[in-house]
Amino acid sequence: MIKKNPMQILDLEQMSKLTEEEKIEILISTKVPEEPVGWLETELPKPVMSRLQSYIETAKKDPTSLNNDLAGNISKSLTLKDKDDWFFKTILIALIDKFLEKFPSYRRQVHMQWPQTFTLCLEPLWVNFQKENEFNPLHDHSGVYSFVIWMQIPTSYEEQKKLPICAESNSHGSISNFGFHYTNSLGRVSQFFYNMEKEAEGYMVMFPSEMKHEVFPFYENDGERISISGNIDIV
Ligand SMILES: [Fe+2]
Repeated sequence: MIKKNPMQILDLEQMSKLTEEEKIEILISTKVPEEPVGWLETELPKPVMSRLQSYIETAKKDPTSLNNDLAGNISKSLTLKDKDDWFFKTILIALIDKFLEKFPSYRRQVHMQWPQTFTLCLEPLWVNFQKENEFNPLHDHSGVYSFVIWMQIPTSYEEQKKLPICAESNSHGSISNFGFHYTNSLGRVSQFFYNMEKEAEGYMVMFPSEMKHEVFPFYENDGERISISGNIDIV
């Protein structure tokens, strides 16, 4: 075992006691990794939520299942139609503008791979109806921008974490929640959880399609958790 030589340990006060002869002027600069790309969050206005709710009602009347195309262990997922591209034009375009303003490195990292002129296109939306014990394992999406909108949350994270299955766990942040996973500049896997409460209804997050995320199951609740998701790609 190598012992540290205490003579080599100087604090800043000692450093300042160096004689002029001992001091050597050096120029120091820093380099930081390209700025990280995060995600946007917004609370959708009531008229927007009503419109999305009408999309769900329409889909229920003439259902097209999407289960085979999705990662989730969720028993029911349906395709939604964005009538007249209304949601795309009124909400998504504005969010993409904001995304590029807030995360300019995403433009450099992803958009530069694209042709000079391109068109953004909304792939078919879908709605998930998640029941107790169902979950969406760690996955990412196709496209460039993806989003999730929490339409109905029947559970409370604060209550879920007290259930016997979780009460003794040292990983309280997971149960019933939505989580992002990403690496930081040290390569460490980091995570961010959105706690699922009634108050989350009406909130939306837009994230890079490659960003890994997952939805944990909830328990002992016969309600239905409803969320809408979609991807935006270039053509
Ligand atoms: Fe997803």
